[in-house]
Amino acid sequence: MDDPVIALDGVEKVFDVRRKVGRMRRERQEVRAVDGLTFTVPRGEMVGYIGPNGAGKSTTIKMLTGILNPSAGRIRICGIDPTRERTRLARRIGVVFGQRTTLWWDLPLRDSYQLVRRMYRIADARYAANLDACVELLELGPLLDVPVRQLSLGQRMRGDIAAALLHDPEVLYLDEPTIGLDVISKARVRDFLRTVNSERGTTVLLTTHDLTDIETLCRRVMVIDQGRLMYDGGLAGLHAVGESERTLVVDFAQELPPAEVDGARCVRVEGPRQWLAFPAAASAAPLVSALAAGYPLVDLSIREPAIEDVIARMYGADRA
Ligand SMILES: Nc1ncnc2c1ncn2[C@@H]1O[C@H](COP(=O)(O)OP(=O)(O)O)[C@@H](O)[C@H]1O
Ligand SMILES: [Mg+2]
Repeated sequence: MDDPVIALDGVEKVFDVRRKVGRMRRERQEVRAVDGLTFTVPRGEMVGYIGPNGAGKSTTIKMLTGILNPSAGRIRICGIDPTRERTRLARRIGVVFGQRTTLWWDLPLRDSYQLVRRMYRIADARYAANLDACVELLELGPLLDVPVRQLSLGQRMRGDIAAALLHDPEVLYLDEPTIGLDVISKARVRDFLRTVNSERGTTVLLTTHDLTDIETLCRRVMVIDQGRLMYDGGLAGLHAVGESERTLVVDFAQELPPAEVDGARCVRVEGPRQWLAFPAAASAAPLVSALAAGYPLVDLSIREPAIEDVIARMYGADRA
């Protein structure tokens, strides 16, 4: 019963790439996209899976769904080997690729969902209940009769996420589900994922470039770089390792000299707006109250450090 839902042991993926050398010659080259990954995810956990571009995140997810076969190592999802039983696995997992839709471009969302229902042979009552829940939580009602190609990116993404959940998967893989979305769409997607994870107990593996996604959703984060697992733990721990900083962006009622508050330093001033850097592992609350007490504070927001910066700092200055 306590078996992990996702289990990888020494997983590798090597691509054989033919590269052009000069005009005529082509050279064979091996790309180690995933290089010895070992980790497990217990049932019900929501894990962040982050890393720079080309780190091997999408390749990992494709292997976990059975789209790609590993070159070496062992994968079990809900006890199933994705390579050998891809179809049986498909009933247990849902997957969303932010860069690509799984919906039918020319069909209204409603028809796409009917096709998903038939593909997975979802029982009527269950389908209706799941669709209702998704439509309500993702606010899809007004969009159901709109062809997918007419949806905005944020609307389409919500439509895609619903499509991935209609068959009640135990595991949900999300590959950059918030990429390119505006702040409000991101918030909606996050709220929905949190609900799915807590109410259905769905195990979630979330790839993202936005550390705010991780901050709001995941207690555990795995960092992958060049196909290897570099860090596995809490986000605060990752920030502590990298000594990274978050930024408080504050708007004052008027232009002021750089604000002076304990625990932060002013790194930029532009008219009435100032940027205050503080250690990412620290709480913003005391800073905010100090600012509110001593300054004519109008508005504020917090910026997470870029993933690339956090990871670069993990290695120290020698890695440009
Ligand atoms: N089908 C493929 N053929 C050859 N190389 C690939 C293929 N897919 C990915 N790669 C390479 O594998 C590495 C990891 O890619 P990917 O998993 O997409 O990274 P990420 O999702 O972390 O940005 C990159 O160097 C990429 O160019
Ligand atoms: Mg990717």
